[in-house]
Amino acid sequence: MQRLRVAFVGCGLISQSHLKAYLAHENWAQIVAAYDPARERADAIASECGATVVDSFEAILADEKIDAVELMTPHHLHLEQTRQALAANKHVLLQKPLGRTLEECDEIVKLGQSSDRVLYYGELSHTTQKARTARQAYRQGRIGRMVALQGTYAHWQGGDYLHTGWRYDPSVSGGGALLDGGIHTLATMITVAGPVHSVSAMTTRFRPELGGEDTSVLSITFANGALGTLLSSHASHLWPPGPSVRIIGEDGILSMGGTETLGLYRDDLPEQREVLIEEWLDPFESMIGAYLDCVVDGQELASSAELGRHEFAVVMAAYRSAEEGRTILISEM
Ligand SMILES: NC(=O)c1ccc[n+]([C@@H]2O[C@H](COP(=O)([O-])OP(=O)(O)OC[C@H]3O[C@@H](n4cnc5c(N)ncnc54)[C@H](O)[C@@H]3O)[C@@H](O)[C@H]2O)c1
Repeated sequence: MQRLRVAFVGCGLISQSHLKAYLAHENWAQIVAAYDPARERADAIASECGATVVDSFEAILADEKIDAVELMTPHHLHLEQTRQALAANKHVLLQKPLGRTLEECDEIVKLGQSSDRVLYYGELSHTTQKARTARQAYRQGRIGRMVALQGTYAHWQGGDYLHTGWRYDPSVSGGGALLDGGIHTLATMITVAGPVHSVSAMTTRFRPELGGEDTSVLSITFANGALGTLLSSHASHLWPPGPSVRIIGEDGILSMGGTETLGLYRDDLPEQREVLIEEWLDPFESMIGAYLDCVVDGQELASSAELGRHEFAVVMAAYRSAEEGRTILISEM
């Protein structure tokens, strides 16, 4: 069988992790082209996988030998590049967040629905082994009725990140730390608990150089009745131990991230604890695997534009709540 021929569009920070993930799935896909206006970044990708460096996005669109594009570009480009790529008959893996505004997200959802190509929403947290295993344990009734979730995402913005200036301009990125980083932990919570019903939030800013809000606390009600809290910050040195989520049920607790992979706590377990995942699997590898399952094997989308739109709406509802000082229903967004 012919391997999926993929073009990288945008070869910045995150592209290196995607490159490694594709190399781990090289029986299914190969990176055949790379484009970045900063040509040396495309060169760096090409030197590791033998891709051809091209001079424009249009050259990728026009190349019939390219089956799929991997869009890893700043957020203001997501809508237009998705439109053009689907129109050129390419499958698309679009990095989070879906767009910069709800209108852009709605447009992207429509584009996906009216195309026969795959539009995959590139949010890692939907396909991590941790989130999928936690969801399965919850659905098997291992924690009983879900009562509450506690999520934390804190990633100090420094080093390489500070060179991605577009990130800190909300007119280009669409928001602050919650949209850029906290959305990953929100996505983990939604993967396990399902959709959000309403949110109220407080946001603040410790580091003006980061543009939008850099720290927020959300109080969430989920459609399944559980309550949740999410702390998201780009102004705190909490990395490691990294993001964490606790899912608290009437009969047990699932705990992931921080210093453990995924643990189940119940009174009836030996030492009241069972480790559900022993080893850590690379989340990028899991995501690209799930995407290829869909494109190459026809399996159901593990991460859809509709889901990306929902998560974007929760973030925007949090911003609106902080501004207006009231609880926002997601159905208002
Ligand atoms: N964990 C994650 O899943 C994760 C982490 C970081 C970033 N991201 C997402 O990945 C995307 C890229 O983020 P990044 O951190 O790699 O940013 P980055 O700034 O390092 O990379 C973006 C690249 O796009 C290039 N670019 C600019 N205009 C372009 C155009 N018209 N066509 C093609 N390329 C263009 C830039 O030159 C740059 O190299 C964003 O959507 C971001 O939110 C996801």
